[in-house]
Amino acid sequence: MTNTTLYTSECFIVEGGKALRGSVKISGSKNASLPILIASLLTQEECSIKRVPKLLDVETTVQLLTHLGAGVERQGDMVKVDPSLVCRQEAPDEIVRKMRASVLVMGPLLARFGKAFVSMPGGCAIGVRSIDQHLKVFERAGASIRVRHGYLDMELKEIKPVEYTFEVITVTGTENALMLLSKCSKRSVLRNIALEPEVMDLIDVLRKMGAEIDVDGRTAVIKGSDYLRGFEHEVIPDRIEAGTFMVGAFITSGDVLLEGVIPEHLGSVIEKLRESGARVEIISRDKIRVSGDGKPKPLSISTSEYPGFPTDMQAQFMVLCSIADGISEITENIFENRFQHVPELQRMGADIHIKGRTAIIRGVKKLQGAKVFSTDLRASASLVLAGLIAEGTTKVMDIHHLDRGYENLEEKLRKLGAVIERRPHREEN
Ligand code: EPU
Repeated sequence: MTNTTLYTSECFIVEGGKALRGSVKISGSKNASLPILIASLLTQEECSIKRVPKLLDVETTVQLLTHLGAGVERQGDMVKVDPSLVCRQEAPDEIVRKMRASVLVMGPLLARFGKAFVSMPGGCAIGVRSIDQHLKVFERAGASIRVRHGYLDMELKEIKPVEYTFEVITVTGTENALMLLSKCSKRSVLRNIALEPEVMDLIDVLRKMGAEIDVDGRTAVIKGSDYLRGFEHEVIPDRIEAGTFMVGAFITSGDVLLEGVIPEHLGSVIEKLRESGARVEIISRDKIRVSGDGKPKPLSISTSEYPGFPTDMQAQFMVLCSIADGISEITENIFENRFQHVPELQRMGADIHIKGRTAIIRGVKKLQGAKVFSTDLRASASLVLAGLIAEGTTKVMDIHHLDRGYENLEEKLRKLGAVIERRPHREEN
């Protein structure tokens, strides 16, 4: 008998060299949908959320809500949550392992039930990703937190108002704190909060539910309510999906109209695209047109919190820089291990050197198609972009990473003229 294991996954086959042309409709934001779906746990009333993208991470969130006892129904791009029958307070290991953002249930569960039992998220592909800031806010609010068999076992008898200055700016940490304190009727103050549009979208929802939240600079003053209402909400567009298509339009020397976007959310991305030579026109409140011809100019990019350049666009801009006319520098300041696309881009002929947190990219004439492996969501998007401009065929492996955060990517790209196909991949090893 041979000792063979069969490895099954899906891959993309991309034929390079086609310019992206036409229009594309941008989906609802993944990173706004997740906390908003989870915020429904704060109430007993029905919540309807529109423009929720069909993604693996959304499915995982629905699975988590259902596990907790909520009724969840999808009708097209609308998701209805009935949280009245929620009876569990546990986020099990199998779900947290699939999606770290599962930790967002901590705030709402503590707020509504005074209890949460949540598997401890470990490190992940892009870094250590501690949640100490989430826990510090919970403790200030009066929670007791113990570690039991790999789980955080939390209890909170009465939510105390909190004054806290975040030691690092954290998106989900800010969201967890806001959700918990929205149930506290006394006034809390959070300083050094994240201002990402996804956080602001959640604040919009918490206000609809009945919390008073004022944001001034990086300070939020929260006066919550013991009774929070159900809500109706339409999720903001996904600025990272939009940014990915914008880079694609430019580097393929194409011409793409993006529909259903919020241009203000894309300020730093637009600035860097223009600096690199792209033509970016704000057509209206929700439309942007991007086109390009000729080689990109090299860039110097440093990722930072919003409104700075997003870490979630770093890998895609690395592809742009890899064919730029000169030497670019990209510094990753948010996550300590977010250069995993680099060895894969090098396999495609990119000239990239890493020095600490900085990648130095010497533009080459052309990338070449190769078999490359996805390691995380944005890394896989960058490999698809690289495939679009490479000579010959690129096989992007392990695209389940990409399915976590891009809705119908291949269909949208095909509509713009790309040659890309999803195939099952079976390999013996
Ligand atoms: N950090 C701490 N302590 C904490 C929380 C964060 O030290 O308690 C550190 C992290 O280790 C990291 C930095 O602070 O170095 C920023 O992390 P943050 O908490 O802001 O990240 P996150 O909330 O886990 C969200 C997005 C990410 C996005 C980052 C940064 C969601 C569900 N995820 O993650 O999105 O990269 O903010 O903008 O909103 C993606 O969509 O591909 C993705 C990874």
